[in-house]
Amino acid sequence: MRPYEELIVPIPDYPKPGIVFQDLTPAFADGAAFAALVDDLAAHFADRGITKVVGAEARGFIVGAAVALKLGAGFVPCRKPGKLPRTVLRESYELEYGTDVLEIHADALPRDDVVLIVDDLVATGGTTTAMVRLVQASGARLAGLGFVMELAFLNPRAVIAEATDAEVFSLV
Ligand code: PRP
Ligand code: ADE
Repeated sequence: MRPYEELIVPIPDYPKPGIVFQDLTPAFADGAAFAALVDDLAAHFADRGITKVVGAEARGFIVGAAVALKLGAGFVPCRKPGKLPRTVLRESYELEYGTDVLEIHADALPRDDVVLIVDDLVATGGTTTAMVRLVQASGARLAGLGFVMELAFLNPRAVIAEATDAEVFSLV
């Protein structure tokens, strides 16, 4: 089996000049690699009483739902605006290549939930920080944040640390 880190493909100048896009789709497309990355993320956060995994549209759904299943937890989506049908909480955030808004159903995370935020990749930390604020606004306890890949040179941990002291763990 090829390790999942070898299946992540850097694409220069996508979607804008100067950005190196890290394409994780080959790691998801390889059954053994996908299982390994999901297992490794879930194993790190096992035995922490996680009841809900929160993930952001769209790539966060791929990893987040799989990790939730592995942990025996539920999955709660953060979606781009106008996609959730009931009352929402909303947060705007900045991306490495633009700005966006995320929403979560206002009643999706009861106060007794223990939450793990999962995404495929953390770059500036903007998306993650928006998710942290949505979890905090819900009133549930944030127990950790897990990523397949962290672009450490963008220093996302400093941004995330301004919002939460929950543990940040990245595989690559
Ligand atoms: C990507 C990725 C993360 C986010 C990380 O999603 O899946 O959610 O960017 O960047 P940040 O740390 O600078 O916020 P994107 O917004 O490109 O949307 P997608 O999942 O729909 O492709
Ligand atoms: N999301 C934000 N920045 C990214 C990057 N450089 N590669 C892949 N996804 C990203």
